[in-house]
Amino acid sequence: MIRTRIPPIAADFRQAIYDGEVFIIPANAKTQGIASTLQTLVHSHYAAADALDNVHTYYDPTTLWQNLTAARQDVVTQALARQLITPLITPLFNTGSAFDVLRLRCSVHNGHLNPAAAQSYAAHRDTWFANPQAQINFWLPLTDVTPQQGFRFYRRYFDRAINNNSNAFNYDDFARNVGFQAPTRSPANAHPTNQSIIHGDKGHSFSCNAGDLLIFAAAHLHQPEANATGRTRFSVDFRVIDSQDRANGLGAPNVDNASQGDASIDYLRL
Ligand SMILES: [Fe+2]
Repeated sequence: MIRTRIPPIAADFRQAIYDGEVFIIPANAKTQGIASTLQTLVHSHYAAADALDNVHTYYDPTTLWQNLTAARQDVVTQALARQLITPLITPLFNTGSAFDVLRLRCSVHNGHLNPAAAQSYAAHRDTWFANPQAQINFWLPLTDVTPQQGFRFYRRYFDRAINNNSNAFNYDDFARNVGFQAPTRSPANAHPTNQSIIHGDKGHSFSCNAGDLLIFAAAHLHQPEANATGRTRFSVDFRVIDSQDRANGLGAPNVDNASQGDASIDYLRL
């Protein structure tokens, strides 16, 4: 079940996330404001398109990728993170908490058929990328999302281990040699994935509207959907780690994460 209201006490909200609960908060004035700012910014890179979710029909794949790279550079700035994220998370997290810049993601029609993108469609926990167990992920779509355009949660595995190669992921090596959203694809150990088959859970997909806010533990096993809907999905996401919860040892259970380092050393402070 997906919850749609944030509990009135912030600590209860964070604990619910650490317990594996997933929230989709319907679009409100704050999230709508974030969405419209980013929609305008991203759309400025796709001038020929009539609507963001239709851009794949206007561009060849190379141009689409170049435009996406340019849009990502505009979205990922610290200034935009402070402007857009801070008002949203201040009521929910303690002062001094860490938050990451906004990352722009794009799922194009049939993008999963591109062999170069295969790693992006694999099941994973974000914590396998040296993200702390207390990390909370926020995901905000800029276009409406059908169940075939987002991703699926394997909730059975929230507190159940699965074989994976996260032990090969070292954040310092990754930051030095690869970097997030690098234009060129990276060595295999830069993308930890499950190494055995997912049993007994077909995954839970979701739908949501542009400006809704999906919130979940970085420790959730999840996997992007193969998008063959004929539409392009744009979304942004960012991560937050509550400083006091982390200091107190709170966070989602670590059932199988063997990655090394700490991605949050590069995060901003609330
Ligand atoms: Fe992920």
